[in-house]
Amino acid sequence: MAHIKIFDTTLRDGEQSPGVALNTKEKVEIARQLARLGVDVIEAGFPIASEGDFQAVREIARAIRSESERVVVAGLARAARGDIERAAEAVEKAAHPRIHTFIATSPIHMEKKLQLSPDAVVERAVQAVTLAKSFVDDVEFSAEDAGRSDPEFLVRIFTEAIRAGATTINVPDTVGYMMPWEYGALIAHLRATVPGIENVDISTHCHDDLGCAVINSLAGVQNGATQVECTVNGIGERAGNASLEEVVMALETRKDYWGHMTAIDTTEIYRSSRLVAGLTGMLVPPNKAVVGDNAFAHESGIHQDGVIKALETYEIMSAETVGRSAGVLVMGKHSGRRAFRKSLAELGYEGLSDDEINVLFRRFKDLCDRKSHVTSEDIRALVDAETTRVPETYQLLAVQFQSGTGMTPVATVRLKTDTGVYEEASTGDGPVDAIYHAIERATQLPIELSSYEIRSVGAGKDALGEVTIRVQSDGRTVHGRGLSTDVVEASARAYVDVLNKLAAGVGRPTAATEEMTAP
Ligand code: KIV
Ligand code: ZN
Repeated sequence: MAHIKIFDTTLRDGEQSPGVALNTKEKVEIARQLARLGVDVIEAGFPIASEGDFQAVREIARAIRSESERVVVAGLARAARGDIERAAEAVEKAAHPRIHTFIATSPIHMEKKLQLSPDAVVERAVQAVTLAKSFVDDVEFSAEDAGRSDPEFLVRIFTEAIRAGATTINVPDTVGYMMPWEYGALIAHLRATVPGIENVDISTHCHDDLGCAVINSLAGVQNGATQVECTVNGIGERAGNASLEEVVMALETRKDYWGHMTAIDTTEIYRSSRLVAGLTGMLVPPNKAVVGDNAFAHESGIHQDGVIKALETYEIMSAETVGRSAGVLVMGKHSGRRAFRKSLAELGYEGLSDDEINVLFRRFKDLCDRKSHVTSEDIRALVDAETTRVPETYQLLAVQFQSGTGMTPVATVRLKTDTGVYEEASTGDGPVDAIYHAIERATQLPIELSSYEIRSVGAGKDALGEVTIRVQSDGRTVHGRGLSTDVVEASARAYVDVLNKLAAGVGRPTAATEEMTAP
């Protein structure tokens, strides 16, 4: 069986999704989960893009070293000295560092964007790979917009890149333009004609502008690609990248057809999806393959009858294979701290400090008071919310609201900060609007809400509500998350989470103020 490497770029290409703003702590949290998931390579960021990106890649390189001995940590760099030196410095502490350097090769990019001749582009590529190679053994070279490049020019530039020391050559369909059979044929052509290609990994990197990212990646594998670049939930620039869970489950579920394997622990897929959705604020549509809420739900009578008789009638993979064991009762009101700690370990949360466990235990007990059955999904949601929390500059003490048919909603909030306790009331178009106005009054911090999403964690009338919001404030984009059995309180908690992140200086500059444009 051939081993297909999974190169995860959630933290680089995925982080380039419009509106996504992860802080270093959140990125490290995702990177740790990717290591648990079993990806081969984590592309941790684009170090030259900003000081924040650089620091995040550095932190991830360090953190992953202790998490997993086998995972490669990559930093992206344009084919330019400054970029490569910065990337080298950022990945230096990784157990297995990789520099991923790229230059555009399509006529339109070379002429209009780079304003370089094809000869000059090849020269830059060779210089970039040679320089990267002076820092690390593992060098990936990408021909940006390969999908619209002349295949013979690709043969030339990849040949030179391999001669200069590239160990992976990547063939990006940067604008998601290609049809699967074209992409497959391109990979087959490169494989047949580039000297030395048999000694390196051939990688796919497909964007989803025409909805072909996953199938194009698979067409690449069918024609000899040994690495697939993808993101959790398929997030990424514009329409996104190939979705990791779809590529992996296609290879896994149809092993009979492919005869390939990945190192992915598929039971970690759902948890990875939930974590990325929660932290990026890019929620997963219910009908999304593998990880959507409805992916394993059978609605029609005929289907229900079928699955009751034999699951395989309408299910090609089981929910458990991708880690969806929702609804398993973990513990209740009378469970003690030791049992709680044990369940955390069983759910895969190993490295939590005593302080973190104490806070989580308190939140768990609060939840037991409000909810009759506490499930593994509830505990995961609590941990994910808690472990990425920033210091509480603002503490939500109380929230009250009155609303009903024919009456104007009115809300009161009480917040505590270092300088005292503040209480404000306000009306609004609905209870959430009223609460948000009241918080704004209490803090005097104007924010602009650009998205608000709510979902239920698990099922049942007493299920936890999870609210995710994205706001713009003072040139920064920040996400907030709030969890409660009361959805209005969850909304208030999401807002307070944003305030705390703003106070902690977290968040990414909104597009207009970004230091440089990412590729
Ligand atoms: O889409 C693309 O071309 C990229 C490269 C930088 C690999 O993301
Ligand atoms: Zn890309």
